Amino acid sequence: MCGIVGYLGSGSAVPVLVSELRSLEYRGYDSAGLAVIEDGNLRILKAAGKLSNLEHILKEQAPIATVGIGHTRWATHGEPTDRNAHPHTDEAKVVAVVHNGIIENYRELKDELLKKDYKFGSDTDTEVVAHLVSYYYKQNKDMLNAVRQAVSRLQGIYALAILSPAYPDRIFAVNHHYSLTVGLGENESFLASDGLAVRPYTNQLLRLEQSEIVELSSSGYKLYSFEGKEVKRSPITSEGSLYIIDKGGYKHFLLKEINEQPTVLRQTLAKYLPDTHKPVNLKKENKGLVNGLHTAGITLTKEQIKNIDRIQIVACGTALYSGMVGKYIIEALAQIPTEVEIASEIRGRKLLVNERTLTIAVSQSGETADTLAAIKEAKEAGSHTLGITNRPDSHLAHITTDLITTECGIEVSVASTKTYIAQLASFYLLGIYLAEEKGLLSPQKSAELKHQLHLIPTWQEKILSSSEDIRQAALKYSSAKDVVFMGRGFNYPTALEGALKLKELTYIHASGYAAGELKHGPIAVLDENVPVVTILVPGVVYEKTLSNALESKARQAKMIAVAVEDDKNVDSIFDTIMRIPTVDEFLSPLLTVIPLQLFAYFTAEALGKDVDQPRNLAKSVTVE
Ligand code: G6P
Repeated sequence: MCGIVGYLGSGSAVPVLVSELRSLEYRGYDSAGLAVIEDGNLRILKAAGKLSNLEHILKEQAPIATVGIGHTRWATHGEPTDRNAHPHTDEAKVVAVVHNGIIENYRELKDELLKKDYKFGSDTDTEVVAHLVSYYYKQNKDMLNAVRQAVSRLQGIYALAILSPAYPDRIFAVNHHYSLTVGLGENESFLASDGLAVRPYTNQLLRLEQSEIVELSSSGYKLYSFEGKEVKRSPITSEGSLYIIDKGGYKHFLLKEINEQPTVLRQTLAKYLPDTHKPVNLKKENKGLVNGLHTAGITLTKEQIKNIDRIQIVACGTALYSGMVGKYIIEALAQIPTEVEIASEIRGRKLLVNERTLTIAVSQSGETADTLAAIKEAKEAGSHTLGITNRPDSHLAHITTDLITTECGIEVSVASTKTYIAQLASFYLLGIYLAEEKGLLSPQKSAELKHQLHLIPTWQEKILSSSEDIRQAALKYSSAKDVVFMGRGFNYPTALEGALKLKELTYIHASGYAAGELKHGPIAVLDENVPVVTILVPGVVYEKTLSNALESKARQAKMIAVAVEDDKNVDSIFDTIMRIPTVDEFLSPLLTVIPLQLFAYFTAEALGKDVDQPRNLAKSVTVE
C-alpha cells in the first residue's frame, strides 16, 4: 500500500514532492512525510493524518532542499501515528527510507538487528530496511551495494525509495513486484508509485520492471537487476493526456463521479460500439489512441473462443461485484460456464485454469495486489488472460494478453462508482462479442441489445434528476445501525454493491444478500429498527423477490425498494420507493445501482462523514 515519491534536480524539492503526494493520496491517507537533504543533513518531517497536516508543518518549517523522497501511508504494521509515519531512518541517520508493500520476514530481521544493538523507534516493518541498509553501508561504504545486500535479505513484495546524505545527488529506488515510475525532465528526475504523479512534470517515463534497482541522479539514471547487472532500457514518451482532477462545481468528487456515469457509459459504448448496426469491434487491430488513452482489445480468434470451455473472473471489492454481474451476462449470452473468485481467496490454492480457460481480471486501478497475483497465476497455468481496467498504464494492462480499458477518466473518490458502471458495460460488450463469435446471437437480437445499451445513459440521467427524492429517503434512515440489501439474479451483486457503498461511506453496518437466502439465517436480524432495501425489477425473479420482501415486512422491517416506474405492486408494500425507468432485469444493473450510490452518498453527507476519503480505506490496495 502507500505511495512513494521522489525529486532530484535544481528546483525546490518540497513543492514537487507535495504535489506528487497529492496525486497519490488515493493510496492511503493515514500519514504523510518527507525526507530531504538540507545543508548536507537528512531532515525528516512527517505527520499522522492527511497530507494537509504535513503541509501545515511544512509551512512553518519550510525546508530548503533540491532532493527528497516522500510517502503517503495506509497503515499495515503499526497504528497510524507520527512515530509510525514514513520516512524511517537508522539511528546514525545514514539513510531515510519510504516503503510500499510488506516485508514478510521483518520480525526475523528485527530480532537479528536488535541482537546487534540496533534501536527501533516504530512498529513498522519499514524501519528494518533502514537499519539493514545502514548496517551494510557501514561495512563497505557503497550505497548501491548496501541496497542490493539489504534487498537480498527481504521477503515479500515491495517498493522502496532511499535517500542518504552521503549521496546528496542520488535517490536509490527498488521495485519488487510493484509499480514504480521514474520521470526524466531537463536536469531533474522524478519518482512515483504511479506515473500519474510524475506526468505533470515530464512525459519521459521509465516504468521499473520487477526486481530492479534504480540509481537516480538529476541528469539521468542507472538501472540494475537484483543480481547487480546493469539493465539498459530507455524511457518512453507518454502519449496520454494529463488527467484533470477537479470537482467541477460539485461538493464532493463522489457526487461528481456518480453524475458522470451517463457520460462514462456513452464514452465506453462510443469506443467499442461506434455504430449499433455493426458487429461489436473489440479487435486488437483497433489498437491506437482513443481519447488520449491507449486502447487494445481482444485477440481471441473465433476458433479460440469456440475452444474456451470456462471463464474465470478474479477481482476485489466493487470490481468483484461487477464480475459477478459479468458472470450472469456471459452465461446468459455466450453460454460459457463462468466462475467468479475473490482474488485474495486464490492465495494458497491452485487456480484450476488452463489453455481452455479465459481468465478475466477486473480492477479499476490495475494495481490491486491480490488481483495481480491471481491473474499472474492464471497466465502461468496457460490460461488466456483479459484485463478490464480504467488505467491503461497499469500493471494489469501490461501483463494481460487482452485488454478492455474503461473510459472513465480518473476516479478520485475512494469509493468506486463510475468505474463500476464502465466495468458492467465492458461485460455487456464482452458477452455480446463472445455470443456473436459463437453464433449464438442473431443479428436482430444483437442489434436490439446494442440499441438498448445506447438508451441506458438517458435513463441514468433520469434517475440522477431525482436525486432530491433519494436525499430525502436517505435522511429518513440515516440513524439506522444495520441495513440489509437484497436482490436476486442480475441484482444480487447490486445488493452487495449497495451494502458496500453504505458501509464504506457511512460506517453503518450493512449486508447484501441473495434475496432467496434471507430466510436461511439473515432474517433473524430483522426487526422494526432494520431497513431492508429490496431491488425489484421485471423479470423471471420478480415474483420471488417480492415474496422475500413480504417476508421481511412480516418481521416489521422498514421497507425500501428500488423499483421501476410502472410497478404499482410496490406502492402498498414499501415505505420508501426509489424509482428507476422501466427496464428489463438483464440490463437493470446499469440503473439499479445508481439510487443506492446516491442513498449512501446522502446518508454519509447527512452524518458528516469524509465522503471522498472514508476512514481506514485506500483506493488502490497494493498489499496482499
Ligand atoms: C479498494 C477500494 C475499492 C475497490 C477495491 C478494488 O478496496 O477501496 O473501492 O473496489 O480496492 O480495487 P481495484 O482497483 O482493483 O478495482
